[in-house]
Amino acid sequence: MERKMIYVNETDRVFHLSNGEISYILYVMESGQIGHLYFGKALNVKGRYLHMVERVHRPMATYIREGDLYTSYEHLRQEYPCYGTSDYRYPAMEIEGGDGSRICKAEYEGYTLIHGKKPLPHLPATYVEEQGEAETLELTMRDALWNLKIVLSYTVFRDIDAVTRSVRFVNEGEEDLFLNRAMSVSVDFADADYESVQLSGSWARERSVKVRALEAGVTAISSVRGHSSHQHNPFLAIKRRETTEKCGDVYGFSLVYSGNFLAQAEVDNYGVLRVMLGINPFGFRWKLMPEEAFVTPEAVMVYSADGLSGMSRQFHRLYRTRLARGYWRDRERPVLINNWEATQFNYVEEDLLRFAAKAKECGIEMFVLDDGWFGARCNDKGGLGDWTANREKLPEGIEGFSEKIEALGMKFGLWFEPEMVNKDSDFYRAHPDYMLKTPGRSASHGRNQFVLDFSRKEVVDAIYEQMYTLLSKAKISYIKWDMNRSISECYSIAYPADRQGEIFHRYILGVYELHERLIQAFPQLLIESCASGGGRFDAGMLYYAPQGWVSDDSDAVERLKIQYGTSFCYPLSCMGAHVSACPNEQVGRVTPLETRGNVACTGAFGYELDLNRLSPEEIETVKRQVAFYKEQRKLIAQGEFYRLLSPFEGNFAAWQIVSQDKRTSLVTVTRMLSETNGPYRRLPLLGLDAGRKYHIAGTYNTYDAYGDELMCFGLMLEDKSSGQILDGSGGCQDFLSVRYEITAQTD
Ligand code: GLA
Repeated sequence: MERKMIYVNETDRVFHLSNGEISYILYVMESGQIGHLYFGKALNVKGRYLHMVERVHRPMATYIREGDLYTSYEHLRQEYPCYGTSDYRYPAMEIEGGDGSRICKAEYEGYTLIHGKKPLPHLPATYVEEQGEAETLELTMRDALWNLKIVLSYTVFRDIDAVTRSVRFVNEGEEDLFLNRAMSVSVDFADADYESVQLSGSWARERSVKVRALEAGVTAISSVRGHSSHQHNPFLAIKRRETTEKCGDVYGFSLVYSGNFLAQAEVDNYGVLRVMLGINPFGFRWKLMPEEAFVTPEAVMVYSADGLSGMSRQFHRLYRTRLARGYWRDRERPVLINNWEATQFNYVEEDLLRFAAKAKECGIEMFVLDDGWFGARCNDKGGLGDWTANREKLPEGIEGFSEKIEALGMKFGLWFEPEMVNKDSDFYRAHPDYMLKTPGRSASHGRNQFVLDFSRKEVVDAIYEQMYTLLSKAKISYIKWDMNRSISECYSIAYPADRQGEIFHRYILGVYELHERLIQAFPQLLIESCASGGGRFDAGMLYYAPQGWVSDDSDAVERLKIQYGTSFCYPLSCMGAHVSACPNEQVGRVTPLETRGNVACTGAFGYELDLNRLSPEEIETVKRQVAFYKEQRKLIAQGEFYRLLSPFEGNFAAWQIVSQDKRTSLVTVTRMLSETNGPYRRLPLLGLDAGRKYHIAGTYNTYDAYGDELMCFGLMLEDKSSGQILDGSGGCQDFLSVRYEITAQTD
């Protein structure tokens, strides 16, 4: 049944977006600016809310009208503020006119209600499959002097507690304008008694959860690297101090974008919190000529009263079902084996075929050939840009090799790094001017490679042609799309001086364009995104690539933290996670194969080692792991995810997945360091049906219990008789992990 979700009070000029669970309320101020009233748990749609506006006289303020000592934007909560007309906080937009002036007076002109949701041109965005799933409010504002139209767009979803926003600027005037700042979202919260939660780190330790109390001033994370980055993810949550994983208010903000971003929380002198998220204004300057339009990337806002886990489940639902798309969205992902950690660049075809044959014997469904197969690629000094096979390694090219893999009964996947070039490549020799480089300056390299100028259509076309040719001729079911360095000396010789501030954004638009063309040409191609692991693991990429390589750190213990942090915003279905060899390549740690399997299988599962080097017992374990994943992969990809114990806070990490019908659940518990004579441990579960009887199959023990017991008393962590227990009185081994399969019984 269709449900109304946007309520307009024409008299008060108040707009109330509500799906019954959350409310987002805004209004048109007397002055014509759009003001913010409320975002959070659903409020009564019949309510009148203008009394929430705090309009007081304050000394030392500037007021927008002569004779009026009350109306100052400094004191008003706004939806899309600008700087310079009495508000001194950071603005959502800054526009520059031809005369250098930067004051914009955007006044409300009207609104439109749209059933459903419109796509964003050339940008990734959430979508609906039926119009009744969402409603969209578009508020049009205009700056009369410049005749600049600004359209604020808000979509509320019927079944997901999220509101998405984006902004469209249309120059309907006569003069050239410049957008110096055009954020996707800005929200002024009524108080600032919050903590912020961010996902930060570095290469090989991406997305650690960092929590800090907000204080007067600005708290910000950002990227200026040309990709969303390992350092900070384009995600920010605001939570109350008392909010936990399981309960309490939390607001999540995520940007559907893969380039430079800024996420900022500013606490002002009156205790108002302004949160904003969008393209990083640093280095951004977009020329908007008459009749041109600019659309910001989409920002997603989620509210949950069910704590951080509750927020994550809303993001997961939205991103898994209404951001990821196409052939692979709901399909079971193949179990793959990737040769990178086993061989790096050094292999010949025979090795690879032996490698693949063993994988096939274990039930693995796809072989992925990583870096090193093309051009002059013997190490990282050459080859990038030449996407044809190195015949010394693969005598019959990718066509012949992919056929041999398919003849084994496996699918074939291939690594590309489309945005990059080495100087030692035919592509560079033919097009030395195709890379990003500032004239007269030296160009820095990263891993001996340079970045192609994807802001230029002819560059994207040239790479597309090469990829298209290979994908049409060879049997390629999957590509791993890598991006192994940040952008430096960003400048495009194809654009004039006053458009150089557009290049970072145009670059990302070029990346999206290449993805889109490949998806249109090969709709069944599965793309896994990667950027030296998780350097571009963001919601923008998820629109094109339904899975991404979470991190180059494949150590199971490190991965607990990385996957735990990643799950704050992103669903398990998109987390590429592999079992790798021990000692681990990155940290040298030795962990049990069981644990490596348990951690990796709560993602898009695969292997990254030479199975020929394993013992017969280990091969049996691998076979069991693969069979287990195949049985469970639908639950893992589509179930509801609950974080139970944080690896950031103690010696244990635990998480739980529950099927939508609550009939099956999988719990994984890992203990980092072994302990002697530790306490008894029970683990209260979540999300089960209280009145239903379940069968619990642990790694060593089984029993039956009702959902209420499992959630209130808790799951008993393996008992003492097993010798492989997690309660501290046995199992003297570090990094042990157990999993519990929980299945509903009929009474
Ligand atoms: C990056 C990726 C790795 C691997 C190498 C190959 O580091 O993250 O998984 O593909 O490149 O060069």
